[in-house]
Amino acid sequence: MRELLGPSADPDPDSALDLHAFYATDWLEPGGLRVNFVSSVDGAVTAGGLSRGLQTPGDNKVFAVLRDLADVVVAGAGTISAEKYGPVKLSPARVTARTEHGLPPQLPVAVISRALNLDPASELFTPASERPRAIVLTCAAGGTPELRRRLSQGAEIIDCGDSEVDLTLARAALTERGHTRILCEGGPRLFADLAAAGVVDELCLSLSPLLAGPGSGRITAGTAWPGSDGLALTLRGLLEEDGALFLRYRSQVVPAGAGRAGNPPRGRLMGD
Ligand SMILES: NC(=O)c1ccc[n+]([C@@H]2O[C@H](COP(=O)([O-])OP(=O)(O)OC[C@H]3O[C@@H](n4cnc5c(N)ncnc54)[C@H](OP(=O)(O)O)[C@@H]3O)[C@@H](O)[C@H]2O)c1
Repeated sequence: MRELLGPSADPDPDSALDLHAFYATDWLEPGGLRVNFVSSVDGAVTAGGLSRGLQTPGDNKVFAVLRDLADVVVAGAGTISAEKYGPVKLSPARVTARTEHGLPPQLPVAVISRALNLDPASELFTPASERPRAIVLTCAAGGTPELRRRLSQGAEIIDCGDSEVDLTLARAALTERGHTRILCEGGPRLFADLAAAGVVDELCLSLSPLLAGPGSGRITAGTAWPGSDGLALTLRGLLEEDGALFLRYRSQVVPAGAGRAGNPPRGRLMGD
């Protein structure tokens, strides 16, 4: 992998790139909420219904490094279900990589769900002494008391609002628990809502050299952002490996009222 744009860009394709250093820069110290996606060149977020069909060896490396540099992994209920998320089981090498960068050895998973249609019998919510409990970020209206009781045996349930999940509160709840470096692994509906809520600091996008063809959704989904022509991002880094591109975007912070869009979502992405 080579760095085309970034703090230590080197045009020499044979020079060794420290992937952890690349993604740790401007991240470990301030922390924030970082979103990771893989997409085809024609913008598909899935191939055959899953992200797996889009992954490349380089994307797998970036995926692992981003986890190494996170305090918590967050995903929406749709991704947890589709991608069959379980607890994160880290190899000794991954634990070493984490501790070398000042991260705790374990990596808990947090799920965001309003409806709370989660399976309490899944491994993700099964209590185990050797790993951290999962976190469920929901609202008071989510789930029956019985479901909550069963889920709470293997997960911490946090209500972030009454009838809807307030994503600002959800992020704050993670930060209060010491999870200052938050990695969101999707999916598209959650990402669109996080961006609209202004709680996304960074997008790491792997672009795989593939046309997936018609049919798949994009990395954002759900209800259109009313009155907005989009959210601006600033490219901070760019890697390449075997034709796949790895883009690191930051939220674009501009002075209040100076946004490009006439009426963007209340997101910090357009800068407020
Ligand atoms: N290419 C990639 O990198 C990548 C990454 C992730 C996922 N994916 C793919 O994306 C697909 C899943 O898409 P998706 O959009 O359904 O995934 P998603 O965003 O993970 O899940 C949507 C669900 O998350 C919860 N949610 C999202 N926003 C919320 C909000 N503001 N408040 C409360 N709950 C919220 C809701 O759960 P409840 O219904 O329980 O309330 C909602 O139904 C899968 O095919 C997966 O493979 C691809």
